[in-house]
Amino acid sequence: MEVFSAIEGLRRFLQPPRQAGQRIALVPTMGFLHEGHLSLVRAAKAENDIVITSIFVNPTQFGPAEDYSRYPRDEARDTSLLEAEGVHAVLLPSVATMYPQGNSTAVLPPTQSEGWCGEKRPGHFQGVCSVVAMLFNIVQPDRAYFGEKDAQQLAVIRQMTQDLHFPIEIIGCPIVRDPDGLALSSRNVYLSAAERADALVLSQALYQGLALFQAGERSAARILDAGRAQIEAKSTIRLDYLGIVDQNTFKAIATVREGAIFLGAIHAGKTRLIDNMRF
Ligand code: PAJ
Repeated sequence: MEVFSAIEGLRRFLQPPRQAGQRIALVPTMGFLHEGHLSLVRAAKAENDIVITSIFVNPTQFGPAEDYSRYPRDEARDTSLLEAEGVHAVLLPSVATMYPQGNSTAVLPPTQSEGWCGEKRPGHFQGVCSVVAMLFNIVQPDRAYFGEKDAQQLAVIRQMTQDLHFPIEIIGCPIVRDPDGLALSSRNVYLSAAERADALVLSQALYQGLALFQAGERSAARILDAGRAQIEAKSTIRLDYLGIVDQNTFKAIATVREGAIFLGAIHAGKTRLIDNMRF
């Protein structure tokens, strides 16, 4: 496995396989890899000839009061995990390599970025779209793999890919959870044992909503009320948002239908966690 910090090196590496018509996949990450990330890598390995993973904690998608500087990092562990998965090359660029002019050109995110994480994290999706567009241009993959864990991000990237005419197939992969239901996240390392136990209420509230739907409930308001009540009963957890949206537009819907997404964000202590499930 090759590790590149420079864009040119990766471009040279990709020339022969591209000329040979091999199928190239990109798995973008911010590192501190867990089984969720590795599930994307395995899907990419199974469906393509060459798999490139990027590890870059992207400063432009973090707000000024967010956790950019303390975001967990472990490049040695990450690269050995990726090597064990048979990844062909890793792009591990510096901030100066990705943003040589500082914050210059940016990509305006599509309307799917409005509300939810987009509202709670101003500028976040502009940062995501900008860095993903750069990675798409650097790697020029045939396919790119993203997790449904970040459902709004996935909808935003699908729309951006279409709008900017990137000839790239976007593949969404299912959420990987711990056995108790907590969605895996690099940010879970911030949680104390007590916070982690309380944070389970988010996935429990989402599961409860799915159960109500299965029992015939179609009112988004009633499903949301039940979810809010469950989360607000935990005094240590602060609800950030809870919503039910159309899976393509990410606009709130009043009547729940199959395929719609139930999504939420909470604060457990200083840690912000997101999760979602599909009806
Ligand atoms: P990061 O949070 O590192 O996540 C990288 C990819 O892994 C994303 O597509 C995310 O949805 C997926 N992922 C994370 N946890 C997952 C889980 N439990 N199950 C399945 N997939 C999971 O998302 C980002 O980085 C960044 O915004 C990025 C796209 C790299 C742009 O900077």
